[in-house]
Order: sequence, then C-alpha cells, then structure tokens
Amino acid sequence: MKRFYITTPIYYVNDKPHIGHAYTTTAADVLARFKRMNGCAVLLATGTDEHGIKVATAAKENNRLPHEHVDLLVEDFKSLWADLGISYDVFIRTTEARHHRATQHIFRKLLDSGDIYKGEYQGWYCLHDETYLSPAEVLDGTCPNPECRRPVTWLSQPSYFFRTSKYAPALRQLLETHPDQIRPETRRNEVLSFLDQGLRDTCISRSHIDWGIPVPADEQNIIYVWFDALMNYLTVAGYPDDDPGFRDIWPPDVQLMAKDILRRFHATLWQAMLMAAGLPLPKLLFAHGFWTAERQKISKSLGNVIDPSALARDLAAASGASPTVCIDAIRYFLLREVPFGLDGDFSNHALIGRFNADLANDLGNLLNRTALLLTRRYSGRIPQATSEDAVCSALAAEVDSSAAAIETLDFSNALVALWRGLAILNRYLDQKSPWSAGRTRKEADKVLYTVFDGLRAISIALLPFMPNAASEILRRLSVPTDPPPTWQDARTFNRLAAGETISSGSPLFPRLLPDAIPATLGNLPAAPAARPLPAAKPAHLSPSSAPQTPQEQQMTNQPEQITLDDFKKLDLRVATVLQAENVPGTDRLIRLLVDIGGATRTLVAGIGDVYRPEDIVNKQLIVVTNLPKTMIRGVGSEGMILAVGDKTVEALLTLDRPAPSGAKVR
Ligand code: MSP
Repeated sequence: MKRFYITTPIYYVNDKPHIGHAYTTTAADVLARFKRMNGCAVLLATGTDEHGIKVATAAKENNRLPHEHVDLLVEDFKSLWADLGISYDVFIRTTEARHHRATQHIFRKLLDSGDIYKGEYQGWYCLHDETYLSPAEVLDGTCPNPECRRPVTWLSQPSYFFRTSKYAPALRQLLETHPDQIRPETRRNEVLSFLDQGLRDTCISRSHIDWGIPVPADEQNIIYVWFDALMNYLTVAGYPDDDPGFRDIWPPDVQLMAKDILRRFHATLWQAMLMAAGLPLPKLLFAHGFWTAERQKISKSLGNVIDPSALARDLAAASGASPTVCIDAIRYFLLREVPFGLDGDFSNHALIGRFNADLANDLGNLLNRTALLLTRRYSGRIPQATSEDAVCSALAAEVDSSAAAIETLDFSNALVALWRGLAILNRYLDQKSPWSAGRTRKEADKVLYTVFDGLRAISIALLPFMPNAASEILRRLSVPTDPPPTWQDARTFNRLAAGETISSGSPLFPRLLPDAIPATLGNLPAAPAARPLPAAKPAHLSPSSAPQTPQEQQMTNQPEQITLDDFKKLDLRVATVLQAENVPGTDRLIRLLVDIGGATRTLVAGIGDVYRPEDIVNKQLIVVTNLPKTMIRGVGSEGMILAVGDKTVEALLTLDRPAPSGAKVR
C-alpha cells in the first residue's frame, strides 16, 4: 500500500484554538481522507508545541507546574479536533519522552558532525515569538512581527549554534531545481528573497530556563523551542528508534502551515537541519494564507477568537440542523470560501450566505425534493431503472476534476467541481420534471433513479470534506458505508439497489432565517446582509486621530459633483507591492515600496491596524500617483493607495486578475 505522510504545524498549547488552527488541520484532514479513499496508508499527524518560556510563565501565573499546565491545555486542542472530526493518526506532544529522545539524538549527531558548535550569543530575542532577531530586524526596540510588537530582550549567553548559513547555497539550489517543493509560487519567491538577505547561523539553545529539552551532556542549556518543535515531524515517523518503519514513511509527502512560519522556520531552518542530518527532504511544503475575522486580525485582545465548536452549536441552534452537520458546514465554508494559499476573511455574513445558497439550496434542497417525491409517489422505494448516460459521464468528469484539484491542494476548486455536479443534477431534474402530468412512469423512474444515483456519487466525493453530512445523505439513500466507499465509487454509476427505501427525514440543512440568527454567532457579530459599506476613499495618510479634512468630510456626506475633466486629472495606476514594513515607532503606518511600471515609489499608508506588512507584499493595489509628496513620520510618501473605510481602513482596492504594474485605471 502506498504510504502518505501529512503534517500540520504543532500548535502552541497556550493559544486558544480558533478557526485559523482549524483551517490548517481541516485541510490536512480532507487530504488524508481523500488519500485513504484512494487506497493510501495515510499517516496524518498533528499535535502541540509545549515548551518555551511563555508556557513556563503562564503555568507560574496559574500556580501550576508547567507539565500540569500543558496537560490541561492540550485538552482544548484534542476536543476541538474531536468535534471537527479530524482523523489524525498521531497526536504528538513535545513533552513526550520519545520526542525528547529524538531531539537529543539529532542534537548529538549534529554536534558530532560539527554542524552544531558552541559560541556566545549576544543579541536580541523576542520572548513572545521565541525568535532570535538581528539588530536590523528590531523595530524601535520591539519585535518586528506586527502580531507581536512587544519589547525585545537582550541576551548575552554562551550558546549552541546550528550552521544554517552553511546550507544557504544548497537551499537556494533546492528551490531552483525543485521549484514545486514550496508552494504557492509567491511564497517560494519570498523564501528566495529571504535567502538573498543572507542566512545567519541559528542560536539553538537558551540558558537560565528549565522548561524544555536539555542539551545532551550540558543540561544547563535548553534546546531552542523551534529546533525542538520542528523535530516533531521526525519523532512522529519513528526517528531514531524504529528504523525500518521510519524509512518506510519518511519523508513527509505534504507539510501544511500558514505563511507565518514558512520562510524562517520550515523552508530554511528545518530543511537545513534535515540536510545536516543527511535525511530526505519533505516532498512539499505548502503555506496557506491567513484568516482575519470581520477584517480584523484574530487576537485574544480584540475578543474575536472564534471557537469553531461554539460556532457550530450556535449555527445548529439558529438553523435547526444537527451540530455535526453544522461542523461540516464550517469545514465546507473554510475550504470553499478562499482559494487555498490566499488570505481570507471570516464573517458570519459570508458563512450564512454559503450555508443558505450552497448547502441548503443546491445540496439540501435537491435531496429533499427528490426524497419527498419518492415518498409520495413511490412509497419511498428506489425504482427499477438505469441512470441517464449523459448525466453519468458529466458527473464522472466533475468528480475527476475534483480529484485533480485535491491532488494539487486546490480545495475550493475541488468543491466548485462538485457543485457543478449538483447543478447538473438540479438542471436535469427541472428539465425532465418527473412530477409533470405528461411523463410516463418509465421516464419518471429513470429521472429519479439518475438523480439519486448522482447524489450518491457526489456525496461519496464529499466524504473527505463533510464526513458527517455526506454519510447522512448516504444513509438516507440506503447506500452501505461499511466497508467505507472508495473514491472509485464516486465515479461509478448505476449503483443503487432498486426496491431499497429512501428515508426523507427532516431537511439536512434548513435555511437560516434572518430572524432566527442571533446577534452574535460564535463570538462574532452576525453582520446583517445589508450592512452598509463605508465609502471608498484614498485611505492612506491620515492617522485615525487626525481631524477630518474638508475632503474627507465631503466624502462621508453628500459628494460634490465633479466634471469628467476633474476625474481625468487623477492619475490612477496599478501598483505592485514589492516591499512593506512598519514605519518605526508606529503600528498603524506601513511603508510600501511599489512598482508602478518601470519606476518604484515609496508610499506610507495607515493600514497597519488591519494588515500586516507581509500580507500586502505582492498585492496589486490602485494608487493615485499625481499628488504632491507628503512627509509622514519622516518618510516621504509619493502617492495614495485606494481603500474602503471611513475612519479606519476596511479593505484595500485590489484587482480581480493580475495586470501589468503601472497599468492605467480608468
Ligand atoms: N508552534 C509553532 C509551530 C511549530 S511547527 C513545528 C506555531 N504555533 S501556532 O500555534 O502559532 O500555530 C501557527 C499555525 O496555526 C499557522 O502556521 C497556521 O497553520 C495556523 N494559524 C493560526 N492562526 C491562523 C490564522 N489566523 N489564519 C490561518 N492559519 C492560522 O507557530
């Protein structure tokens, strides 16, 4: 049997699990379920990152010993994964003895080979992010990560270093010879620019702490939490004890994560560690995008951390659907709403929209109306007939296209293909209208059989995405699910047993009616569909505390009429963001270097409340280029980007397909 090893990051045990963590883990689960349906022996691993100062400090604050603390917190993750139906094979905790052995083993091995050496670390460290920082990276004494921006600490300590720099040429060569090993391509390009900046050796030990894995034979020092965490992927595979088993499963086929931990950690440190250990590299590192919630960063302090289990409970109460079906609605939403690799915004408005349109209407209603028809006219029994050939081949093509999309981790298009399949069935049913008076019994039999057989096929293909709802549909269609259906079953037709009874049951996805939706769903305000969007405006320079200019006042009130000539005076261009960083001393202002076609410009934009610099790099924005240069916090800004938002920025104006930098906007 073909082995297939999938990993998620191991999550910081201190964090409250939310839709961001659920996203990566659900994507990994969909892939795992799909591969199992295709006959692979899958190893799906997830887990928790339990060492580090933050955990030790939080334990102390709660009057607990660190290990008691992590034993309690890990349950939050395990129970969310149980609720979400994550079919992991291994849950790894970095506090496990097997992981200590593996980490110390590799540390010793690299020390012996000279890839780890002892030196003196003098430099900055961000305790919150557990990251060593070069002086150039520190912004005004704070961590450059926009999510963090906490004061950094000066460390001066004898330390162990890993020779990351030695592997820079090999890492670069890897990116060039295996351009598909890191995806999407934009992320691979970011890794290349990261390498261009030069790699320093990585300090991989800390002294004066006692929560973590000790350096072998030098127990005063604790192994750096990232070196320890990355090792989890090897521990899971049985390294170093279980040699034949390890060789059988190593390397990982797919390693999933968000873009935040690709460049510095997985693409460089991790791969350099493997090179140094002489171990094969992962076949694919895939970094997906980041979710915001109602256009805000998800953070405890903003109080917008959405717990998917609570959201499913709220959704169930509001719709009358079962909680497990609502879990599947969330799984569906996360993977359908945003192309895997791009950033996404979570809003209840969008979730409700998908619930009603895609799930209640396209899928649920097709099942309900045909099941009802069968119950009324055929006492619920599947008629003796064969499926319409043309429908079967069209559906098989969609199932194949869905499979091809999953293979490339294009989950949203995989679902789009299945929804094209549902559209085929809905259209076919409407056109053939078996209920109409002119139909012979034989014709009606064929139509109903075809629709149920098609629903059976699509539901099987939906099993990786919505295991509960799809199994329930199959149960209602009397399709046996033991042994579990294979992917091949989703592309083979005429598989319903005539005479079997179909149960209609209550609607699987009852429509969410506006009156039933509570003011908050899953901790977020359930923004009404008709929420007025603020006016579009050049949203750059003015910090929110600044008084409104007359122009701004005009934009929020009645706009003054202008002539076409006035409008033509504006030079609006497509600008591709090359670099972005916070303006020192402020979280709100971001300095952008943009390409406007053969020339670059520096802009300063007050968008840091909503966007992190790395979220904007590579985006194509619209810029007003013919405004006078303005100085903002000592930085000259040569233009304005267009954004939506009144006092604060809500969204940037971007393009729906790429255009050349500098293209004129009319
Ligand atoms: N412990 C490290 C990872 C070590 S892996 C060897 C860590 N943990 S974390 O708890 O911060 O998790 C980061 C991962 O959680 C991201 O890479 C992503 O998979 C997921 N996400 C957390 N928040 C997210 C969003 N807002 N959006 C999308 N995914 C996010 O880093």
